[in-house]
Amino acid sequence: MKTSPHRLLVSTLLITGGAGFIGSNLIRFLLRTTDVRIVNLDALTYAGNLENLSDVEHNPRLTFVRGSITNTDLVDQIITKHSIDGIINCAAESHVDRSIASAAPFVDTNVAGTLVLLEAAKKHRLERFLQMSTDEVYGSLGPTGAFSEETPIAPNSPYSASKAAADLLVRAFVHTHGLPAVITRCSNNYGPYQFPEKFLPVMILKAMEDLPMPLYGNGLQVRDWIHVDDHCAAVWLVYTKGRIGDVYNIGAENERPNLHVAREILRGLRKDESLLTYVTDRPGHDVRYAINATKIRSELGWLPTRSFDEGLRATIAWYGAHQDWCTSIRSGSYKDYYERHYTEGT
Ligand code: NAD
Ligand code: DAU
Repeated sequence: MKTSPHRLLVSTLLITGGAGFIGSNLIRFLLRTTDVRIVNLDALTYAGNLENLSDVEHNPRLTFVRGSITNTDLVDQIITKHSIDGIINCAAESHVDRSIASAAPFVDTNVAGTLVLLEAAKKHRLERFLQMSTDEVYGSLGPTGAFSEETPIAPNSPYSASKAAADLLVRAFVHTHGLPAVITRCSNNYGPYQFPEKFLPVMILKAMEDLPMPLYGNGLQVRDWIHVDDHCAAVWLVYTKGRIGDVYNIGAENERPNLHVAREILRGLRKDESLLTYVTDRPGHDVRYAINATKIRSELGWLPTRSFDEGLRATIAWYGAHQDWCTSIRSGSYKDYYERHYTEGT
């Protein structure tokens, strides 16, 4: 189903997963650049951290609700109570390695949770639903070429399979129920507040502490990096102007082998290459991702603004300046705070 792009009159958004890496950056971006009100629904899993939003937590346009997107009644209540106009679904189990160890939470949140949100969007006739998906649904590339929106879905990890399943549900709700939904598929994000299980913060923090930097396999797998700020701007453009039912790839043409990124980090921190350590490869490791973002560029006029060199320098500096954040994340001490202060639905 296709309709013409148009500007929405958005007033109150439900952002799910807003205490995570991309969600918290998206909330900050929207509070800074728009006048929308935001309700942030987040279960505060190991990856959710309200410290990611400490600079905006008193903003009167931001409300936090602790709870799961799998909770139908809670989602229903939030939409009614806050007169929600649309949803941006960032909530997910997001880490590939964890999905290899245990896939069930990925199906629960990424598939069943997305279904709850879709049903709610349909029931309340919301004006827009944006599903934040990933380029990993396309599988792995050979040495050349890039994923376009027409590339067939071929997920390889339990994580990407759960994201692909959610995308298909979104597609089905558009086709069957006329739900005004759009899907974004972005490449690897980096920037502030990324949980230190992902490649860049792992490598930066290890290098800062003179610890071995673990490269999976031969370290030559390729990822296509984008600064989270550029991803957030693209998501908002797709939310407000994207064609209903369409998929939009988002990427900034920064393909790099993991080894090269690790070396750039070492150079930035003036550390020795002897820290590079080759470890057992990830099972089913996707060799290469690359995004063709021609559609969002030509149709919606989006352009990335952060070069990889500058963005990486800024990200290394951010982790250097936020050692307290890193320590509290890694010690898990922030979890105790949540348990004392928040219960589901408050
Ligand atoms: P993240 O792991 O940092 O954050 C996920 C957030 O979702 C956390 O705050 C967590 O508490 C919350 N959450 C998990 N289960 C929940 C549930 N059942 N109910 C409510 N909240 C729940 O993830 P991220 O890297 O910020 O990714 C956000 C989204 O973007 C995900 O959908 C991911 O698939 C997608 N994505 C990520 C990248 C990337 O490079 N990080 C790239 C493309 C797409
Ligand atoms: O492409 C988008 C996806 O990018 C998102 O959908 C996922 O949510 C996000 O986690 C990310 O997936 P990756 O598997 O690409 O990211 P990760 O940071 O886990 O790994 C990046 C690359 O670095 C990958 O080739 C594996 C490798 N790696 C990772 C870690 C954590 C290492 O070599 N060593 C490591 O310690």
